Amino acid sequence: ASGKLWGGRFTGEIDSLMMAYNESIHFDRALYAQDIAGSIAYARANVATGILTPSEFSAIEAGLQQVRSEWEAGTFAINPGVDEDIHTANERRLGEIIGKDTAGKLHTGRSRNDQVATDLRLWLRDALREVEALLVDLLKAIAIRAEQDVAFVMPGYTHLQRGQPVRWSHWLLSYGAFFAGDLDRLRDVIRHVNKSPLGCGALSGNAFNIDRASMAAELGFDGLVPNSMAAVADRDFIIEAMQWGAALMLHVSRWSEDLICYSTAEFGFVRLADAYTTGSSLMPQKKNCDSLELLRGKCGRVFGQMAGLMMSVKGTPMTYNKDLQESVEPMLEHVKTLKDSLQIAARVLATLTVFPDKMLAALTPDMLATDLAEYLVRKGVPFRETHHIAGRVVALAENEDIPMDKLSLGQLKAVDERFGDDVLSVFDYERSVEMKNAVGGTSKHAVLEQIKILNGVIAGG
Ligand code: ARG
Repeated sequence: ASGKLWGGRFTGEIDSLMMAYNESIHFDRALYAQDIAGSIAYARANVATGILTPSEFSAIEAGLQQVRSEWEAGTFAINPGVDEDIHTANERRLGEIIGKDTAGKLHTGRSRNDQVATDLRLWLRDALREVEALLVDLLKAIAIRAEQDVAFVMPGYTHLQRGQPVRWSHWLLSYGAFFAGDLDRLRDVIRHVNKSPLGCGALSGNAFNIDRASMAAELGFDGLVPNSMAAVADRDFIIEAMQWGAALMLHVSRWSEDLICYSTAEFGFVRLADAYTTGSSLMPQKKNCDSLELLRGKCGRVFGQMAGLMMSVKGTPMTYNKDLQESVEPMLEHVKTLKDSLQIAARVLATLTVFPDKMLAALTPDMLATDLAEYLVRKGVPFRETHHIAGRVVALAENEDIPMDKLSLGQLKAVDERFGDDVLSVFDYERSVEMKNAVGGTSKHAVLEQIKILNGVIAGG
C-alpha cells in the first residue's frame, strides 16, 4: 500500500510525524558512495551464487554507477516519504533505471542490517584515514617548530607554578608525545573498524553460500566480522572511534589551555596570528584566542557524542534495533569536528609568534634551587641533605629580599661550607637545561633525539 520497500504486509498508513522521526535519508545520504560500492560487491558475489546472471550483474553495476553519478552531480532526487534511508533510496532509483525485475534481485539474502553496518564501516575507515593524515600534519607542525625554536628556554610548570627551566621545544614535544600516542592508537582503531559485516543478512547469515571473503577483498576490508549476529548488532567500532576522538580532543584541549595561558599579557610567551583570533565588540584593545577556546570547548561536545551513543546502545538486545540508527549522526559530526580541529590546531601552531625574551624574563633563580642541591650531590652530599641546604639558601634569599643568584659566595658558604668557588655557575638557565641530558630530558641533544623519534612515528605508517 505505502510504496515502501517493506510495504507488503502493511495496510495502515504511517503517522507523518513518525515518518519524519524514522527517516534517516537527510543524514545517511552521506553514505551514498559506500552504499553503492557495497551493493556492487554484493551483486558481483551473487553471480557465483547463481542468483544473478552475468548480464543481470552488468545491468545492476551500470545502474548503480549511474545512481552514483546522480549523487555526485547533485541531481539525485530524493522521493520524500518513500526514500526512508540511503539504502531504500538507491534501490528505488536503481529500479527506475534498470527495471524492477532485475533491481529486485539485488537484495536477495541481504538486509539493510548488514548493509548499513557495511556502509558505516567503509565510511568510518576512510574518514579515519583522513583524520590520520591530518593528525600527521599536526605532528609535522610540532616537529618543525620544535627544531626551529630549539634555543628558546622557558619555565616548566607543575601546579601551574614555575618549576624548572625547560626548552620551549620540550613543551612542544610533550604534546608531540601525546599526539604520537593518539596516532598509534588510531592505527589500531582503523584496523578494528575495517572488518566486513557484508553477507550476514538480517542476523543469521546467508543461505546462498555467498563468498564473504571476496566481497570483503573488493571493498578493501581487512577480514570479516566472524559472527553474523555480532556483525549486525555491533556499533562498537563507532564507539571505539569516538572514544579515541575524545582522548585526542582531551589532548587538544589541554594544549589549547596552555597556549591560552601563554598568550595572556601575564605570560606573553606567544601571540596568535590574527587569522585565528577575534576582537571584542566593546573593548577595542582585545584580541581573543577564540580558535583555542573553541578547540577546548569542542572537546565537551565530542565527549557528549561518545557518551550519547554508549547510552543509546547500552540497553539494546541482540541483534539489530532501530536505536542503532542513532549512531550515524554523532559519527558524522564527531569526525567533522576532529578534522576541523586538527587543521585549526596545526595552523595556529604554524603561524604562532613566539617571544623567547619573554620566556627568559619569566625564569627566576629560585627555579634553580634543585640545580643547587644537585651541585652538592656532585660533591658527595646525600640528596636529602642537599635539598634541605638548598631550601635554606632559598629562605636566606627571601629574608634578604634578593634574588638567589645575587647572594655572595660568602653568604652561600655560610649556609654550607661545601659550596665551592664554582657554585655561582649553577645560576645559568642554559646550563640547567643542558644538564638534563638523559633520554627524554630537555637538553638540546635529548630534544633533537625526541624530534627524530617523532619523525619516525610520522613516517611509520
Ligand atoms: N537506516 C537504518 C540504520 O541506520 C538502516 C537499517 C534499517 N534496518 C532495519 N531493520 N530497519 O540503522
